[in-house]
Amino acid sequence: MTLPGRKVLLKVICVGDSGVGKTALMHQVVHKKFSNTYRATIGADFMEREAVIEGRNVSVQIWDTAGQERFQSLGVAFYRGADACILVFDITNPRSFEQLGSWREEFIAQANPANPDTFPFVCLGNKVDRNEERRVSKAAAQQWCATSGARPIPYFETSARDGAAVEAAFMQVITLALHNS
Ligand code: GTP
Ligand code: MG
Repeated sequence: MTLPGRKVLLKVICVGDSGVGKTALMHQVVHKKFSNTYRATIGADFMEREAVIEGRNVSVQIWDTAGQERFQSLGVAFYRGADACILVFDITNPRSFEQLGSWREEFIAQANPANPDTFPFVCLGNKVDRNEERRVSKAAAQQWCATSGARPIPYFETSARDGAAVEAAFMQVITLALHNS
């Protein structure tokens, strides 16, 4: 059961270093599928998913962006109008974690949201199915999320491979996006 009324359109942008699993996470969210094959995203691409949140029908446009600089050919004009941003790193790749701050700053600079201090971010430490190769501790990630912005950033440890925490993270993102839209 959903309330009558117009469908809400939400726009979510997913950013992070190349290879952290942004495309794989989006495939898991939209198609519930995973592939081991790596194909770098060129420019940007978006996928849509319908959901019901707080009794409202929402249509979520999730923008999957290129982590590789040479493939960021579309520029970042599509950051405009975003309702939330997902910051992704790979728990086996410390550099991808160290880059989160610059991804966040770049997003704020380009999206230019009305209230940067309260703009909703959610952080995903992905590839948790490879926990034995972990090189970024959960505590370090939680610490960064608690202290890096004007308000704490929710943190999830996800696996695009087996789907762990992916749906919970997605619901958190769209809840925050809805409140910000
Ligand atoms: P760019 O498009 O270059 O920015 O990379 P991306 O962040 O979209 O990475 P992508 O989703 O293409 O994943 C990179 C590689 O990591 C692929 O081979 C995926 O199969 C693999 N991968 C992604 N997520 C996971 C995960 O949760 N666990 C494991 N084991 N592998 C993953
Ligand atoms: Mg990709």
